[in-house]
Amino acid sequence: MAALERTLVLLKPDAVARGLAGRILQRFEDAGLKVVGTKMVRIDADLAKRHYFDLEERFGKSVFDVTANFMQTGPVIALVLEGVEVVATVRRMVGATFPNQALPGTIRGDFAHTSKAYTEAKGIVAANLIHASGNVEEAKYEVELWFSETELFDYQTVAERYLF
Ligand code: PPS
Repeated sequence: MAALERTLVLLKPDAVARGLAGRILQRFEDAGLKVVGTKMVRIDADLAKRHYFDLEERFGKSVFDVTANFMQTGPVIALVLEGVEVVATVRRMVGATFPNQALPGTIRGDFAHTSKAYTEAKGIVAANLIHASGNVEEAKYEVELWFSETELFDYQTVAERYLF
């Protein structure tokens, strides 16, 4: 049976600086996903390390360094979204990691650029607008890392009240 899940989304410094937060959030709301937590945060090195704890092991030190540093260049907007199979749904909506591979219709495909900086960084992408948890286990870890219980909200959407 399809499960109700929560996932962590981060609107990265480039999304905030470009004024795309509202348009990106709109996509999630339009898709019927429920916002159960949100805040603006300036990440420090410690939070970056805890959030990207396995990035160095998976992709190498340069990927970790570039990603962790970029996330500290400006405020990010953190969201917790809830919905049935929301982890995979949000990843599909976000699109491929590399903007030049992301399909039209996805958030990265429609808004992210493959910049000159990306070429100069030899294949390490930083400004790809958005992070979304990769799987259910990662989502659980990341939601707990970023939000306390009191920052997460329980309420009924209109769809939950009247639709099934
Ligand atoms: S994957 O394989 O893309 O699904 O992995 P994921 O955990 O989603 O993303 C890895 C994060 O590292 C950033 N990054 C790179 N990943 C892979 N290869 C290269 N070269 C690379 N450069 C940067 C990428 O933007 C992901 O950041 P987040 O914030 O998790 O989206």
